[in-house]
Amino acid sequence: MDIRVYRDYHEMSRAAAQIIADQIRSKPDSVLGLATGSTPEGMYAELVKMYREGKVDFSKATSFNLDEYVGMDPSDPRSYHRFMRVNLFDHVNFAPGKTHVPSGIGDNLDEQAMEYERMIAAAGGIDLQVLGIGMNGHIGFNEPGSPFDSRTRVVDLSEQTVSVNREKTEAESLPTQAVSMGMGTILQSRRIMLLANGAGKAEIVSRAFKGPITTDVPASVLQRHPDVIVILDAPAARLLDSK
Ligand code: GLP
Repeated sequence: MDIRVYRDYHEMSRAAAQIIADQIRSKPDSVLGLATGSTPEGMYAELVKMYREGKVDFSKATSFNLDEYVGMDPSDPRSYHRFMRVNLFDHVNFAPGKTHVPSGIGDNLDEQAMEYERMIAAAGGIDLQVLGIGMNGHIGFNEPGSPFDSRTRVVDLSEQTVSVNREKTEAESLPTQAVSMGMGTILQSRRIMLLANGAGKAEIVSRAFKGPITTDVPASVLQRHPDVIVILDAPAARLLDSK
């Protein structure tokens, strides 16, 4: 795996934004898989800056986000729809209808999840998938135990995930279910870029990338993918050499 360690969060965010910009430059109609969470916020800020400076053009690109909470209205401040608008979509030039976030509302979420898979396939599949990593090794909202061949579906969130995310976002409450791209969906991406920062992620990063491949640590399956870049700041990389 291509593991790259940067001095600090700012440097890693810049490097990650550069990888996305290079992807779009080499293939303007790239299909991007996008992630939420605090980790990629700096990368999105850099991309907005690069767009304003004329260094990246999203006009032909398409995006598919990883996940959304069940029952979450897209206008809810806690929703991932809203996160993406505030951090990226409202500030750059994706064409109308070219950005996608799974819907957490509707009469038949299972059918909608299958439709999401069909839309990704119809767009040609994901060229570059961005990921963060949860404290328990989850990617998207694929919690420990998620089958490696799972597809977009409704998932139950662990108590730890709900409470960590609630604290981070200062939300009073959060749903205990989500719609998430599956492990199989993520693994089908042609390239994957996982970001992690901070000392709090050091242990799970080392378990995921230096430990055995196991569904107990969902991100560990990325070791099997032929084209993964892991972008870390120095604190998150702290335990990588000791295992
Ligand atoms: C959420 C998201 C994940 C994200 C994770 C880590 O649970 N569903 O996609 O990677 O949080 O979040 P953070 O980047 O805030 O640590």
